[in-house]
Amino acid sequence: MSSIPASHREILVTSALPYANGSIHLGHLVEYLQTDIWVRFQKARGHECYYVCADDAHGTAIMLKAEELGISPEQLIETVKAEHEKDFAAFLIEFDNYHSTHAEENRVLAEEIYRRLKANGHIATRKITQAYDPEKNLFLADRYIKGTCPRCKAEDQYGDNCEACGATYSPTDLLDAKSAISGATPVAKESTHYFFKLPEFSDFLKEWTRAGHVSNEIANKLSEWLDAGLKEWDISRDAPYFGFEIPDAPSKYFYVWLDAPIGYMASFKNLCDREGIDFDRFWAKDVSTELYHFIGKDIVNFHALFWPAILQSTGFRTPNEVCVHGFLTVNGKKMSKSRGTFINARTYLDHLDPEYLRYYFAAKLSAGVEDLDLNLDDFIQRVNSDLVGKVVNIASRCARFVTNGNDGVLAPGVTNPELWQQAVDAGETIAAHYEARNFGKAIREIMAIADAANEYIAAQEPWKVAKQEGREAEVQDICSLAINLFRVLMIYLKPVLPAMAEQAQEFLNDDLRWDINIEPLTEHRINVFKPMVKRVEKDKVEAMVEASREELPPVAMVDGEQQAAASTGSVVSIEPLASEITFDDFIKVDLRVARIVAASHIEGAGKLLQLTLDIGSETRNVFSGIKSAYKPEDLEGRLTVMVANLAPRKMRFGISEGMVLAAADDDQGIYLLEPDSGAQPGQRIT
Ligand code: 2FM
Ligand code: ZN
Repeated sequence: MSSIPASHREILVTSALPYANGSIHLGHLVEYLQTDIWVRFQKARGHECYYVCADDAHGTAIMLKAEELGISPEQLIETVKAEHEKDFAAFLIEFDNYHSTHAEENRVLAEEIYRRLKANGHIATRKITQAYDPEKNLFLADRYIKGTCPRCKAEDQYGDNCEACGATYSPTDLLDAKSAISGATPVAKESTHYFFKLPEFSDFLKEWTRAGHVSNEIANKLSEWLDAGLKEWDISRDAPYFGFEIPDAPSKYFYVWLDAPIGYMASFKNLCDREGIDFDRFWAKDVSTELYHFIGKDIVNFHALFWPAILQSTGFRTPNEVCVHGFLTVNGKKMSKSRGTFINARTYLDHLDPEYLRYYFAAKLSAGVEDLDLNLDDFIQRVNSDLVGKVVNIASRCARFVTNGNDGVLAPGVTNPELWQQAVDAGETIAAHYEARNFGKAIREIMAIADAANEYIAAQEPWKVAKQEGREAEVQDICSLAINLFRVLMIYLKPVLPAMAEQAQEFLNDDLRWDINIEPLTEHRINVFKPMVKRVEKDKVEAMVEASREELPPVAMVDGEQQAAASTGSVVSIEPLASEITFDDFIKVDLRVARIVAASHIEGAGKLLQLTLDIGSETRNVFSGIKSAYKPEDLEGRLTVMVANLAPRKMRFGISEGMVLAAADDDQGIYLLEPDSGAQPGQRIT
């Protein structure tokens, strides 16, 4: 059977553009790894394939984040882009171009698309009334308004739904609504907005979404929206906004989601200009080149409704497929900072080899939208058993016989043609699985070949044959076939494991091509085998989880570890003064006089001391971020004040059963509160 792909294809592929205000984490990586593997597969098969991406640099969140950090949005997006690119490269994600939506190409394309939409009569303008922050002079999106739920009276609910009782409402219905940015009471204010007339594309979209451009599962979801009736889409935002100004509409900006997908085109345009590729070959209407967008299930409406409608109106081609994946869970649950399972790309890289994750995700990915679970025990077991125990084991067991016994030259023929042919023939099935994004199925087929190869070696026992005189040629035949099978495996695994494939290429003296018929290497010199992959070590995985754990949310009492995390992390939150509370709220806090009976350093803790507190009726273990201000021996015997009814909190070093009170901030030091002399441990503070 031939391994050569049937025809030459020209393919443009994108992944969703990450926002330029946060770090890449393992949840993001599901998509970038899925796309990268698919692109590497297409390239391996000899197709012309381009993979472009960019940072999504516009919007209110980025503007506010820059303000909070005291830098310009341009500075913020430049720093974040550099970090993103570094993380992607470390995970061997190989973009042909990585750009930014805040780029000239994107401005030109966004303006052109807008002009065409307008010329086609697909833009409407009308006045709308929105919540406005009179202190910040800013219109407030729902998520920037908080207040008390009108139904259950739960406080501090954001936007248009209550997390406590599930009620949905308009943010203007919130009782005692406040701007989450300044704390000011929002006022209603009118302004003119620009809308894309999406309903005019309803028939087009009903057809398009059922024409194989999304899976049936997604088409069914889209039908719910289509059947309910589409609404016009608000594509403008008022100044101040970080983005592109709308032509002939002073102080009006394109909403970030308008120019984000145009960023796919802009990144590609930037590549075209650099490398002399014809942009129109991939974007003009009715071209035969292919376009694929890889995205997560949360942004399907933007990519499978708004985006094709905009492209349709403006005379560009529409995507061949919007490829939608599910979310990442870790150990069966949503990623969580307190569990240490919200893992940043960089934290992973500090502890583990990126190819472990590439392999594990590949082994679990399908074309569907179900969530992918990273079970950390299974991760260790799977990588060790498949990559170390099965694949590399084949080469490591057999290489030395060829290196020592035959000067590194493989035998002249294939001693078990059936086994060889099976491995070669599986290539087409494996390729079909890769093509369909059923990577898990591809990996299962590949591992079946590895199992067959290992069974063959175990049955032939070349190490025993080698001890028998006169059977040297047999040993060479067995081991040469094994090494050829290892080579086939690495050809199939190369899209998933590019670094390991490079080492295999060096060892095999071969470039592992999958765009030509796979023939065995015979009378071919190989190089000395060197170990290609280390076992995953459990303690490294545990250290990664520990490093990802955030033990305390920001609270009134300064916890030093938390502050340190906040000042170096990418998500910096500035807490305004707490909002007003009632007397009833206050008396819920059980404040007690406590005597510090013991205080000690904690190994590995930068800011915390461990305190044993006597509150009369019992003693409590409390971790407190006061190490920079106090020596443990100076604290012993002192009185202080503690919150005695705080729910116990699991921290990195143990359970903390309360909190001592201190005046504390970075600039002015830390001062433990102390009652006047005479106060007794356990005495209530009122
Ligand atoms: O959801 C997100 O993270 C967006 N930044 C994705 C944008 S994808 C595209 F449309 F640009
Ligand atoms: Zn409620």
